[in-house]
Amino acid sequence: MLNVNILSCMMMTKISLPNMLERGKGAVINISSCSGMQPAPLINIYAATKVFMDFFSRGLQVEYGSKGIIIQSVLPFFVTTKLSRIRNTSLFVLNPTQYVRSALATVGLEQRTNGCMSHSIEGWAVEKTPEWLKNKARMHISNNVRKYYLKKYANKNKK
Ligand SMILES: NC(=O)c1ccc[n+]([C@@H]2O[C@H](COP(=O)([O-])OP(=O)(O)OC[C@H]3O[C@@H](n4cnc5c(N)ncnc54)[C@H](OP(=O)(O)O)[C@@H]3O)[C@@H](O)[C@H]2O)c1
Repeated sequence: MLNVNILSCMMMTKISLPNMLERGKGAVINISSCSGMQPAPLINIYAATKVFMDFFSRGLQVEYGSKGIIIQSVLPFFVTTKLSRIRNTSLFVLNPTQYVRSALATVGLEQRTNGCMSHSIEGWAVEKTPEWLKNKARMHISNNVRKYYLKKYANKNKK
């Protein structure tokens, strides 16, 4: 998790920034997550890597913004990808094409974004909700997801 989500980003930054500096322009879009906006029990390490991504990007923007380089931090909520295992779209769950089209339109306009209107509404709600309530809700959701997968794997092993 640390290698895939953190080390790879740092190495790509090291490879690509010098060329951008030389040209005096460039854009780096780093994908954090809504899980980096609040504590995420039971997916804690994933969430912590996403906090890294967000802070790393924001710090780099301060360091390199004046040199013509855009470094954007994107914090999506749910998108229907292989990783999320969500198949059905809705107002709040976009497909990758919809999400990327919307998120790309924010490059150069927003340094930190949830990427689309409906995810920005969710981001606003997360920021306004009291910490104790978010923690309780997240723990409840994470416990249910965990129970679902433990049951699924137990059934699979029986077969
Ligand atoms: N989808 C969401 O709801 C959501 C929400 C918030 C944040 N994000 C973030 O968005 C980013 C992109 O994910 P996605 O949702 O677009 O999913 P995706 O389409 O499934 O892409 C994930 C990518 O990560 C690669 N990958 C997964 N595990 C890996 C490993 N152990 N080593 C090397 N590569 C690995 C996959 O490679 P293969 O194709 O070879 O498997 C794939 O290219 C992720 O950083 C995720 O945290 C997604």
